[in-house]
Amino acid sequence: MSLAESWDRYAAGNKPRRAVNAKGDTTWLNWTQYADHGPNESVLGPVAGRRVLKLGSGSGDNLAHLVTLGATGLGVDLAPTREKVARERWGNLPGLEFRTAEATAFLRGTDETFDVVLSIFGAVWFVDPDTLLPLIRSRLTRGGILAFSHLPPGGEGPKPAGAGLRHDRTPHEWERILTRHGFSDVRASLIDPPEGRAVGTMLVRALVA
Ligand SMILES: C[S@@+](CC[C@H](N)C(=O)[O-])C[C@H]1O[C@@H](n2cnc3c(N)ncnc32)[C@H](O)[C@@H]1O
Repeated sequence: MSLAESWDRYAAGNKPRRAVNAKGDTTWLNWTQYADHGPNESVLGPVAGRRVLKLGSGSGDNLAHLVTLGATGLGVDLAPTREKVARERWGNLPGLEFRTAEATAFLRGTDETFDVVLSIFGAVWFVDPDTLLPLIRSRLTRGGILAFSHLPPGGEGPKPAGAGLRHDRTPHEWERILTRHGFSDVRASLIDPPEGRAVGTMLVRALVA
């Protein structure tokens, strides 16, 4: 089975996100695996007027939220059904596009630059950082932000058959790796889980000086 088929099969088991969150919002950004939990898009600073690339954009919900705040967005996901689902959900939103592509192939082939690169349980978790980070850095504008989240090391989480390694790292390891790849002001931390749940969420943010 190809990587794309593997992720398509994984996605077929996912429930779509609710239409409205606990606050009554129809779009929102969620960094964690829990509903109505964790920080919001303020982690990124103001996004209006900024060009955002999401690597592993899934059904596009998080990216769509940033576009409603005035960003323009491009979601890249290697699973073809994800592009279809994301277009069906968000195709009417001006300034938002989706494309089927593997993250490293996309980054190698584009000459576009981005102010923000995002991955929420997405490609940054599944591609060797020594391959992916230089590519991301080369496509980020000066002052640009890379931000991503995934489970802490040892968590169960998604690992579809054939999807290869998951690159679990501790906050300290991410700080070292990102600094080694020329990122600055690296902040990596664990978001505590909600009450009654055991597993938190890794949240990492780094800048290109
Ligand atoms: C666990 S899902 C998370 C989806 C989405 N970020 C969300 O929060 O709903 C991981 C997504 O990353 C995509 N993905 C994994 N590896 C990728 C890669 N190398 N390039 C592009 N997309 C990738 C998968 O197809 C899948 O849609």
